Amino acid sequence: MKNNSPAGATKPYLERLNGQTAGPTPVWLMRQAGRYLPEYRQLRAEAGGFWNLVYDPARAAEVTLQPVRRFGMDAAILFSDILVVPHALGQSITFGAGEGPILEPVRDLNRLMELNPARLPQHVAPICETIERCRAGLPEAVTLIGFAGAPWTIAAYMIQGHGRTDFAEAKRIAHADPHFMEALLDLIVSASATYLAAQVRAGAEALQLFDSWAGVLDAAEIEAWVIKPTRRLVSLLRNQNIDTPIIGFPRGVKDYAAYASATGVTALQLDTDVPLATGQQLARQLPVQGWIDPEALLAGGAILDAAVDRLKHGMAGLPWLCNLGHGVIKETPPAHVTQLVERLRA
Ligand code: CP3
Repeated sequence: MKNNSPAGATKPYLERLNGQTAGPTPVWLMRQAGRYLPEYRQLRAEAGGFWNLVYDPARAAEVTLQPVRRFGMDAAILFSDILVVPHALGQSITFGAGEGPILEPVRDLNRLMELNPARLPQHVAPICETIERCRAGLPEAVTLIGFAGAPWTIAAYMIQGHGRTDFAEAKRIAHADPHFMEALLDLIVSASATYLAAQVRAGAEALQLFDSWAGVLDAAEIEAWVIKPTRRLVSLLRNQNIDTPIIGFPRGVKDYAAYASATGVTALQLDTDVPLATGQQLARQLPVQGWIDPEALLAGGAILDAAVDRLKHGMAGLPWLCNLGHGVIKETPPAHVTQLVERLRA
């Protein structure tokens, strides 16, 4: 696989992700491009719909670059969504005004057979073009992160049909029909491997796997639906000679260390609830990203300063990448993001 960084260019985020601890701590925030930014809301209105924005390379690249320009982030995350994979397979997915995604549920093998993985490469071609445009438009020092949903979280949305839930219905169906669940996870794993490999070929320099709903599962379900398919996804990528760093985010799991060693991800994104001592311990094994409370970012002021300082001091000398423990809340004033970045760099 080609080296995506020009010779000699220094990329602080990528270097820290590869375990180097020297230099200032790099920062980006999950959902740094999005509805809390007026410049995002304007482009979103012009595009006339979320998917229109995602599949428009010029606009999607612009949205990706907006937070880098405004805040001087060390990394940009591709503007897209984890639900691109089921959408590419042919599942109907809509985003209503102000609510989460609505999917036409896939709950049995017959519906599963109607999905078509052969559509994927063509469907994601505009997203790969967005990546090329982002690489052309980003400063040399800034890393471009590609991503996908992890298999369980994608399966959960595909089965349940929406995200306003603890996914009890998705779990019930998965237990009632294990053959269906296995076939669904296999389909998601292979489609996601194809999609992530295409992102890397287009110029993504790091990859993040969002398992936003891992926390609703018990230990046996985590083993079967989180760890096993994620390990398979990682090995499918490695088998294609993709040596890109992979950040795993099994949000809400109890044992991040076991997840990391069993899946082969090279770094961990931690959630808001992880104790400082646990983060310190994990960072002795692999780079960790996170995990400032998005509510502290929303609050700003002294609460935000204290939240930044806690990790800045607690993680000094360790391979820590500054980020939140979940996405930026849409009511967050952009000035609070400026405050976070300045406090970190002070
Ligand atoms: O800045 C970035 O982080 C890059 C782009 C990005 C989006 N979604 C843009 C988006 C990324 C990495 C995601 C990941 C994503 N999408 C996750 C995993 C992270 C997490 O938050 O747990 C999940 C679960 C989704 C599914 C999804 N997409 C939901 C639940 C929603 C609606 C609710 C919400 O939080 O906005 C979306 C839509 C979406 N994805 C928006 C954005 C900016 C808002 C859409 C709009 O403009 O109306």
